[in-house]
Amino acid sequence: MKHMKVYLDNAATTAMDPAVVEEMYFYMKDDFGNPSSTHSFGRKTRVAIDLARKRVAHHINAEPSEIIFTSGGTEADNMAIKCSIEDLGLKHAITSAIEHHAVLYPLEEMAKQGKIKLSLVNVDDKGRIDLDHLRELLATNDRTFVSLMHANNEIGNLLPLKEVGEICAEFDAILHSDTVQTIAHYNLDVKDLKIHFITCAGHKFHGPKGCGFLYINSDVKINPMIRGGAQERNMRAGTENVYGIMGLAKALDIAYAELDHHAAHIQGLKSYMKAQLMEILPDVRFNGDVDGDSLYTVLNVCLPSSDKNEMMLFNLDIEGIAVSGGSACSSGSNVGSHVLTAIGSPMDRPAVRFSFSKYTTKEEIDYTIDKLKFIYQLEIA
Ligand SMILES: Cc1ncc(COP(=O)(O)O)c(C=O)c1O
Repeated sequence: MKHMKVYLDNAATTAMDPAVVEEMYFYMKDDFGNPSSTHSFGRKTRVAIDLARKRVAHHINAEPSEIIFTSGGTEADNMAIKCSIEDLGLKHAITSAIEHHAVLYPLEEMAKQGKIKLSLVNVDDKGRIDLDHLRELLATNDRTFVSLMHANNEIGNLLPLKEVGEICAEFDAILHSDTVQTIAHYNLDVKDLKIHFITCAGHKFHGPKGCGFLYINSDVKINPMIRGGAQERNMRAGTENVYGIMGLAKALDIAYAELDHHAAHIQGLKSYMKAQLMEILPDVRFNGDVDGDSLYTVLNVCLPSSDKNEMMLFNLDIEGIAVSGGSACSSGSNVGSHVLTAIGSPMDRPAVRFSFSKYTTKEEIDYTIDKLKFIYQLEIA
């Protein structure tokens, strides 16, 4: 079998769609004006950004004025958390131990500074959020800020966001969801979801890195996190990342136009890979709610324990296969995955996250399965 380069790390980032590159190139080379300039160069990019905002808002059924472009998912998560807690005077927050660090770290910092009391909602061994516990925490505390991710980037768990929105609404809580892994992969309707903030990063759906957005429900009034110029209607200062914004909008247009087709293709590859792995490694397990509600782009494999596992990512890399991995942290250590630790994934069974995109092919999955067989045979020999 010929050597291949196989990219199965699409939850980390995706290859840009050539149509996105083309769109961005135009705004680097031709329409490069500063949207704040009042001359014709500036007016052109101002109009382009306003149209991009309308298109982005349309895809999630938001109003254009509810979209703030940011430098990515991290900034959007930080802004939702820090600004709403401070500006709405909230004294209690609920999150889970499996959130991305872009959510956990700002919340932990605010708790450490004494600004909030932070509660962690229970998560089971499949990474599912205990909604009864969420209800209990909401009922026994002051008005709360809730941050629960729509899909987990490591294990792929999907949250029943509509149900969570309804529970939060009962208690008048403010709900933020990190939707970085689901925007452009699922249809999201913010008017239907009782939600106040969602976040997006363009590079997770074949758009550019360093550009994302925060949706802020118009019922919520917060102040900016980054101050300076009057960009983004005074909500996020700094000269706009014009080509990033145009690339993100283009990538979102493409993703939603082709969503059903690509979702079916990717789900097919995930199921195929799972079946193949179970055939070659009878003792294999999977992290997360793999047979329940799970991202179709992510398959987190819990490898059978073996002394070769430590070198697994390295061996796959040598074979041209790019994946992510991790393992639960031993007590007291900071290394390892906080997500795998939270769900009690066995420490002697490291995890390999395979994540797929519209560009992934069956041939690439077959190649990966063949190389895994080879790696395990080496171990047996
Ligand atoms: C769930 C989730 N949230 C937030 C982020 C951060 O996004 P960015 O790197 O664009 O700031 C990521 C990216 O890895 C993610 O997967």
